[in-house]
Amino acid sequence: MRTPIIAGNWKMNMNPEQTAEFVKAVKNDLPETTKVEAVIAAPAVDLPALLENAKGSNLKVAAENCYFEDAGAFTGETSPKVLKEMGVDYVVIGHSERRDYFHETDEEINKKAHAIFRNGLLPIICCGESLETREANKAEEWVERQVTAALKDLSAAQVSSLVIAYEPIWAIGTGKTASADQAEEICGVVRKTVAKLYDETVAEKVRIQYGGSVKPANVKELMAKENIDGGLVGGASLVPESYLQLVNFN
Ligand code: G3P
Repeated sequence: MRTPIIAGNWKMNMNPEQTAEFVKAVKNDLPETTKVEAVIAAPAVDLPALLENAKGSNLKVAAENCYFEDAGAFTGETSPKVLKEMGVDYVVIGHSERRDYFHETDEEINKKAHAIFRNGLLPIICCGESLETREANKAEEWVERQVTAALKDLSAAQVSSLVIAYEPIWAIGTGKTASADQAEEICGVVRKTVAKLYDETVAEKVRIQYGGSVKPANVKELMAKENIDGGLVGGASLVPESYLQLVNFN
């Protein structure tokens, strides 16, 4: 049985003070981690406030990005080693905003995945097609290619423990959610890709999230799908009440 994982992705929208207030508002109403893993991915500047306030609660903490080296002359980058030392659990990599605006490549995403495991953290690896790709009927092959590139040379045990987030770019922040069936279809492609690269056992273990205008009103329908094990949520994760509705979807 896969434990559902609902992660808020705050993007660049919160400061440390707001972070502390948010955690205080949600920390006592989070589900047991064995039932649903509740995660917040926050900008690096907010991680100390997030970690400090989440101490002793069921909230897990993710960084929104990291570099693929542990230390060195890399001005402005975030070390996965330091994230681990701080107490972070997950790192989101390969988000379409990072691929598009910051030119993150498949090769870098794969290197980051290795760096994250090397440091005892877990990656949440994002994939997803643009509207153009979908309309050209190439969503499946696009996602298969992204997943294959991101997982290169990872072991079966590593892949069994990580999270893959399918986020169609046309559904991010647009209010246009992929229908539950559309989301399920491509999440199924992700699982099949993992089965092809590894085996059925690994594919049954890997957790797959859907992201793109997930909100309290549609989370239940999405989560009822066989291949959807969680959500990666932007806008609706910024408000404590709606975050709590999302993580307590069942
Ligand atoms: O990573 C979450 C994401 O990109 C979806 O954002 O605002 O559509 O929930 P949103």
